[in-house]
Amino acid sequence: MRKPLSIFLVLSTLLSAFACETLPMPEDPEKQHEQNENTGSPSDNQSNGDETPNYKDATSKTLVVYYSYTGNCKDIVSSVTGLLEADVMEIKPAVDGQDYAANNYKLGADLINAINAKPGEAASYPGIKTIDRNAADYDTVIIVTPLWHSHMAAFMQAYLFKYGSQMAEKNVGLIVSSHSSGISSVVADAKRLLSNATFMGDALWINQSNRSKQDELVKNWLIGLNLIENTMPSHIKISVSGKALPINIENNDAAKALVAALREAPITYEANDYGGFEKVGPLGRTLPTSDTQITTQAGDVILYSGNQIVLFYGSNTWSYTRLGKIEYGSLDELKSFLKAGQGEIYVTISL
Ligand SMILES: Cc1cc2nc3c(=O)[nH]c(=O)nc-3n(C[C@H](O)[C@H](O)[C@H](O)COP(=O)(O)O)c2cc1C
Repeated sequence: MRKPLSIFLVLSTLLSAFACETLPMPEDPEKQHEQNENTGSPSDNQSNGDETPNYKDATSKTLVVYYSYTGNCKDIVSSVTGLLEADVMEIKPAVDGQDYAANNYKLGADLINAINAKPGEAASYPGIKTIDRNAADYDTVIIVTPLWHSHMAAFMQAYLFKYGSQMAEKNVGLIVSSHSSGISSVVADAKRLLSNATFMGDALWINQSNRSKQDELVKNWLIGLNLIENTMPSHIKISVSGKALPINIENNDAAKALVAALREAPITYEANDYGGFEKVGPLGRTLPTSDTQITTQAGDVILYSGNQIVLFYGSNTWSYTRLGKIEYGSLDELKSFLKAGQGEIYVTISL
């Protein structure tokens, strides 16, 4: 099943010519819905439903609204709800069983083109099934949507066109899933459809190349929006020449930013001796400082100038931000670990 379908999709991808951009195929073809007998055109079948919604009572303060055709956005919703208490609402097309990727994604392209032609007219948007949550009952709404032909997937646009006024003055976060296309037009769609909402931070973009880190990306995004707490580990790890020691980490903004960076990947940098009391090197990023005059002790891990990390095997008095302390046995052990006085070392810091 996987191989012939993949070959078909690769061929159809090669043949495709959507506007300025070639459409990459959805990454897991096996997740695609089976096409049923209903093969009519969108205008025949995607009628604009006008059923009266019968809303459930809100049970929490955050609503996650998603549409998902091949399952990626549904997975992202699981990452979000694994971390955050929220009600979830799925947007469903009025017509079941359509294959939006068939014929070189023609049906999906037709739906997006119809919206782009007349974005202000209700008739341009495909029908969706009756919704059962009222976004007005929530403080925060997180929208999780696929990208279709560089735009927000047609059914999420249909939902926001019809019900977006429920999000007036609400805090709205946006997560976009694409194969590889950039999401700026999806963000523009969201701003057009939700002109009265308050957007929180930047949209989170999950794509083929970062999907394996989805849980961490979602976590950091939610922390950045202050929707979940930045739960700090008590220790991180420092490794030099294959040996590792724990660092007892501080609970300040600099340490939190360092931990957030380490959640994405360990940091390796080159450090050199300075002044006979420290190894200093560039962290490769800037962390928030809260500098105060400190007299350091052996083992202190210090942020200097926002972007240099200093590992002390002696003492110095300067205006620094404390990041943590290496837990070591004897001073000789620490000096040997840091190769004190012996020139450059490669340091890796990790969770
Ligand atoms: C109709 C259609 C159009 C798409 N257009 C694009 C595109 O222009 N660029 C892109 O990178 N991915 C495109 N994709 C891929 C989806 O954005 C991507 O697979 C996304 O993760 C799907 O989310 P889902 O699994 O929740 O449906 C398209 C997919 C479909 C079905």
